[in-house]
Amino acid sequence: MTTQDELKQQAAVAAVERVESGMVVGLGTGSTTQFALERLADLIKIGKLKRIVGIPSSLRTEKTARELGIPLTDFGAHPVIDLTIDGADEVDPDLNLIKGGGGALLREKVLAQASRCNIIIVDESKLSPRLGTKWALPVEVVPFARAVEEHFLKSIGAAVTVRAKEGKTAATDQGNILLDARFGPMQDPGRIAERLNARAGIVEHGLFIGLTHDVIVAGKDGIRHLTRSA
Ligand code: 5RP
Repeated sequence: MTTQDELKQQAAVAAVERVESGMVVGLGTGSTTQFALERLADLIKIGKLKRIVGIPSSLRTEKTARELGIPLTDFGAHPVIDLTIDGADEVDPDLNLIKGGGGALLREKVLAQASRCNIIIVDESKLSPRLGTKWALPVEVVPFARAVEEHFLKSIGAAVTVRAKEGKTAATDQGNILLDARFGPMQDPGRIAERLNARAGIVEHGLFIGLTHDVIVAGKDGIRHLTRSA
């Protein structure tokens, strides 16, 4: 029996195959990406990949990358990323995503928008006929606007909970709050994204629409690629 962690690792290893020497690599966040960071570090260590620099999508990933010895850079030096490898919470048939289960959705979306190519790595449990079927949508709000945006999300049909960690309201890397908005299966995720984009108090949300080029799915029957042309 293949465990979920083994599937995550298989997807991660397949994604790192796509990294070439000299690339600027976007480093996602989460348990699946952790396997990609480890693989990338191993290939750098044995000299198979040279002159790699990474841009991390969270303080957590930055710490891990430093511990693993992956050289890091920033957008000041490299405003364009060659290839980003990241995970997702839910993937629909159009390769749209819900992300942000790990709370890093804002920096992850900055990386995705700065990348020539975005590869998403998942085990098959993340595939979904419609976004929102399995997962609440994480919405990052400035603390000042918390009640206003919570009211707004409820008014458009979501059940809302405030993300907590160890009994306290969780803070993002930017010091903001996360509202987990459960919409149920979304008929039109692009329309929901537009409505959220229009709100002043919402800094970002976890709907990644049209940003993904390749989803690497690891399942019990092996690896599959779901692709969209760049
Ligand atoms: C973090 C994310 C993660 O990529 C997503 O939650 C998937 O995580 P995991 O690989 O641990 O299942 O969006 O903000």
